[in-house]
Amino acid sequence: MKITKICCIGAGYVGGPTMAVIAQKCPDIQVRVVDLNEQRIADWNDPNPENIPIYEPGLSEIVAEARGRNLFFSTDVDKAIDEAQMIFISVNTPTKTYGKGKGMAADLKYIELCARQIARVAKQNKIVVEKSTLPVRTAEAIKSILDNTGNGVQFQILSNPEFLAEGTAVTDLLNPDRILIGGDTTPEGEEAIEALLNVYANWVSKDRILTTNVWSSELSKLTANAFLAQRISSINAMSELCEKTGADVNEVAKAIGMDSRIGPKFLKASVGFGGSCFQKDILNLVYIAKSYGLSEVADYWEQVIVMNDHQKRRFSNKIVQTLYNTVADKKIAFLGWAFKKDTNDTRESAAIYVADDLINEQAKISVYDPKVSRTKMLADLNYLETRSEKDNNEFLNVFESAYQACNGAHAVAVLTEWDEFTTYDWQKIYDSMHKPAFVFDGRNILNAKELESIGFVYNGIGS
Ligand code: NAD
Ligand code: UDX
Repeated sequence: MKITKICCIGAGYVGGPTMAVIAQKCPDIQVRVVDLNEQRIADWNDPNPENIPIYEPGLSEIVAEARGRNLFFSTDVDKAIDEAQMIFISVNTPTKTYGKGKGMAADLKYIELCARQIARVAKQNKIVVEKSTLPVRTAEAIKSILDNTGNGVQFQILSNPEFLAEGTAVTDLLNPDRILIGGDTTPEGEEAIEALLNVYANWVSKDRILTTNVWSSELSKLTANAFLAQRISSINAMSELCEKTGADVNEVAKAIGMDSRIGPKFLKASVGFGGSCFQKDILNLVYIAKSYGLSEVADYWEQVIVMNDHQKRRFSNKIVQTLYNTVADKKIAFLGWAFKKDTNDTRESAAIYVADDLINEQAKISVYDPKVSRTKMLADLNYLETRSEKDNNEFLNVFESAYQACNGAHAVAVLTEWDEFTTYDWQKIYDSMHKPAFVFDGRNILNAKELESIGFVYNGIGS
């Protein structure tokens, strides 16, 4: 079957960029991205492509090219489902905050709502593609809903997890390491796989498109994130040992990364990983393993999260200890709030937890981030419910420039690896700070020797 009309439910960090790239690369396919969130859709339709709701290098240009041609954003979910031959489900699957599996399992309520809406609206056969990250065997539940509440039409369910990383979403989508498509091994299943494969084949070479059964595809996504996060927790564990022994974690990472069996990527020690995926997906994996009675498997992967929480806490503790065991009323400048550079996403950012710890010690936090608003930062802190919103408001100050944020500070903490932080006039920052002027480089991006020669007391991770 040749696909000419696609719909994507969920206009978020995955749905938006993924569909923009499909629309750009397949001008003969009409792509409709729909969402319940009216403001989000209005922002995607903002006449100025620079104002789209997600900041990703290169994305606004692609949206400018395809929007109105074959890329459309709307809140009319029914219409988009009705018209499309292929429906991507790209809604959020956060960790459950209630009931059974609270704090561990993925919350599938948005997925189920989508399945029920598709079942209600669809009058012709459809291919339904799981783009969201889902627990293994979710396709079974979706299929059951579609088959039992639908209008007697045929559905094929495919799993097509997304591997893009934020900050590099566009290049990852344009040039993916692989595309994974899981589907049924029946003739209808194979036909559906072929239809999706042909969409990607417009720009991805076929040897990079991998097809598997549905369960392998669903589980591969959780596995990939668990392995990536595990590397970060492993190097972060070594960073603590480095600090005790005089070894330097950057040197250790380089030395082990040159072993081709290990490889150099994802070995950057840091204040701890953040983002909407790693923690959520590992907790979900742990929950699934536990639900099958596999306690050793569950405990093994849970340790990745334990280590990450420890790394974030260790960073805030180090700031307090180094500042003579008190930070009350001291100004601590944060460079960065996003969970990594080149994104405006702050979900699970280490900065939130470090700020929360330091505010518990009554420190005044002054933040500069090139892409994150004060409203967002406050919402992140309020979500933790550690103290009143009024108190958070009082302890958090946000500035338009790093120089303002650092002015009069006792310490500067680097929480995000934004490139611009390495280009600052650090002498000017030093001159404006209390002495001794401390730097806590949670990303190991600054030049320690240069800062020390200016007079800073420099603390990196793992050295
Ligand atoms: P997101 O929160 O940015 O976007 C999800 C969107 O879905 C929201 O705008 C929400 O309003 C909308 N939505 C929810 N229920 C809906 C419904 N019933 N009808 C219409 N719209 C609805 O989430 P995201 O970061 O794009 O993640 C989506 C999925 O992709 C998750 O499963 C996530 O694990 C996975 N994923 C995310 C990334 C990433 O980097 N963010 C990467 C790979 C995979
Ligand atoms: C991740 C996966 O990489 C991606 O394949 C998946 O689709 C979604 O989840 P993302 O969370 O967007 O992507 O960014 P990623 O680059 O993986 O970084 C996650 C966190 O780990 C960030 O906080 C980052 O700063 C941190 N990190 C990454 C490190 O601390 N050290 C590293 O070496 C790499």
